[in-house]
Amino acid sequence: MIYMDNAATSWPKPQTVKEAVIEALDNAGNPGRGTHSHALWSSLKLDEVRRKLAHLFNVEDSMRIAFTHNATHALNIAVNLCYGQIVTTAMEHNSVLRPTVTRGCYHIVEATKTGTIEPDKIKKAITELTGAVIMTHASNVTGEVYDISKIGEICRKKGVLFIVDCAQTAGIIPIDVQKMNIDVLCFTGHKGLFGLQGIGGIYVGPNVRIKPLLSGGTGSHSFSLKQPDELPDCFEAGTVNTHGISALGAGVSYVTRIGIEKMCEMHTALRQYFYDEAKKMPKLDVYGGISVGKEKPNTGIISLNVKGKDPAEVAGLLAKNGICVRAGYHCAPLAHKTLDTENCGGTVRFSMNHLNTKEDIDTVIYMLREMA
Ligand code: ALA
Repeated sequence: MIYMDNAATSWPKPQTVKEAVIEALDNAGNPGRGTHSHALWSSLKLDEVRRKLAHLFNVEDSMRIAFTHNATHALNIAVNLCYGQIVTTAMEHNSVLRPTVTRGCYHIVEATKTGTIEPDKIKKAITELTGAVIMTHASNVTGEVYDISKIGEICRKKGVLFIVDCAQTAGIIPIDVQKMNIDVLCFTGHKGLFGLQGIGGIYVGPNVRIKPLLSGGTGSHSFSLKQPDELPDCFEAGTVNTHGISALGAGVSYVTRIGIEKMCEMHTALRQYFYDEAKKMPKLDVYGGISVGKEKPNTGIISLNVKGKDPAEVAGLLAKNGICVRAGYHCAPLAHKTLDTENCGGTVRFSMNHLNTKEDIDTVIYMLREMA
């Protein structure tokens, strides 16, 4: 079997991640809700994992990271923190687009035909009405990594919040919230961080006015009928997913052992090889631009179509031959409008990670050639 659906969820999970789940099943109590050994085990685990994440993202104070159910939950919290108009882009996932459109008062910046977001276009879109820029760090359709450092600098100069969706990049591309001027970072645990589904998180920087999305028990200020306004409790209403957090901690350690720079290099190189091979076949339409080294990294995604064939049919044939990919619109409708794949059923998306090999790509290319 060749697994190339890591942008949907990473597979396989490292052995240490599996062990961390078992460890939590054996030990976890409810964090922050008691002083017995099980409750304390969980509180300490949360603290340990927050610190690991803070180290990964260069967050100064780990208490500014709250655990969420997933990236979508984190992004809904983030949208709820915005005042004024939101500037976003056509390459966003519905996890950004839907809460933004539901809230109202937004402007969508167009991408180029290959799905690039030009920082200057973001700059021009920011007006005196703008309160925040929310955008993805990398497209979940093309894998292109956007110039977050440059856009963060623009946002800081213009005095607007910069909110980044790192669902596709956490654990794959280096992220430094301080250097990149990121005010709010939203991430998931089950993709590049190798954790379980049902766990994600949000970092909220010191320039952001805190406002809870959900209210409920936090184990703190129990006599107050209002949600606490300090971090991380403000965003952690109800019992958190300690088992998922334990696994996430092991996933983060796995990534840091390999090294985030190395991860980025491996994903970009595999993607480049696939892109070059696919481009040799005139019967394939390949989407997105080239990716070369540090200057133009990629999360390891190739989106393509076999001319004249429905993407779902291609994905079905690949699945029958043991190749796991995702076809369709990938919950990114405007990205497909941009790439002009709106009326052909989207694309077939191959999302690799560092465990894939050139031989995997050769096998896939062979099958695509047969189909073409
Ligand atoms: N957002 C995930 C994807 O792109 C599920 O497949």
